[in-house]
Amino acid sequence: MAKKEEPSNPEIANVPKHIAIIMDGNGRWANEQGKPRTEGHRAGARTVRQVAEACGELGVAYLTLYAFSSENWKRPKSEIQALMTLLERFLKSQTKEMHKNNIRLQAIGRLTDLPDKCQRALHESIEQTSQNDGLTLILALNYGAREEIIDGVRSVLRHVQDGLLDPAMLDPQIFSKHLYTRYYPDPDLLIRTSGEMRISNFLLWQISYSEIVISDKFWPEFGKDDFFKAVEEYSRRQRRFGGL
Ligand code: FPP
Repeated sequence: MAKKEEPSNPEIANVPKHIAIIMDGNGRWANEQGKPRTEGHRAGARTVRQVAEACGELGVAYLTLYAFSSENWKRPKSEIQALMTLLERFLKSQTKEMHKNNIRLQAIGRLTDLPDKCQRALHESIEQTSQNDGLTLILALNYGAREEIIDGVRSVLRHVQDGLLDPAMLDPQIFSKHLYTRYYPDPDLLIRTSGEMRISNFLLWQISYSEIVISDKFWPEFGKDDFFKAVEEYSRRQRRFGGL
């Protein structure tokens, strides 16, 4: 049998510094295969590894993945539990590999509402990879952009109350420093899989000027070649940031 060819690492003129991804379609992919939804999430975790590897090959500096939204708590208890177990196992099994690949793991969201086991695994992975200076992989967990903005407003109010900030000085640059993403640049490219044209409460503030690429593939079938194609499309776009 012929060996499946590895997608070639393309020459891309303009590699985005920060890519954010809405990983959508795990459930529908599983459904099409006649498998339970949880199998879709498991297959989705494999795509996470592939895409992180592709980012390393291209020299992308930041990759933010929407792994669990504030709204995902509305799903059946069994699916939430499966997702949390998958996350914990992913962290426990992949930290060594991430470290070997010089990946620094970070997380954004209301993390203290995650199950204790997940929080512990998350903090261990973050700690163990903290000195790496390759790709920064940011997992958005129990993340909602509106919740983030509210937390940001609370932080601004505390600074004003403590006399550390004059409200007249508040501008977008200062407000950005009160968001979970204060350490990272805004995404240059936002990818969403499964053909849906929605933002779904993801990084509302930060994607103001991001380029958006939608792929029709479900997340578990989104391969390195699809990822490279999305980045190539980005690289052909002209960004004007409101100017000419
Ligand atoms: C959306 O598909 C995906 C999620 C809600 C969870 C994303 C999780 C993973 C990719 C796996 C675990 C990730 C890590 C980092 C270990 P959906 O279930 O909404 O799909 P559907 O719209 O087809 O139902």
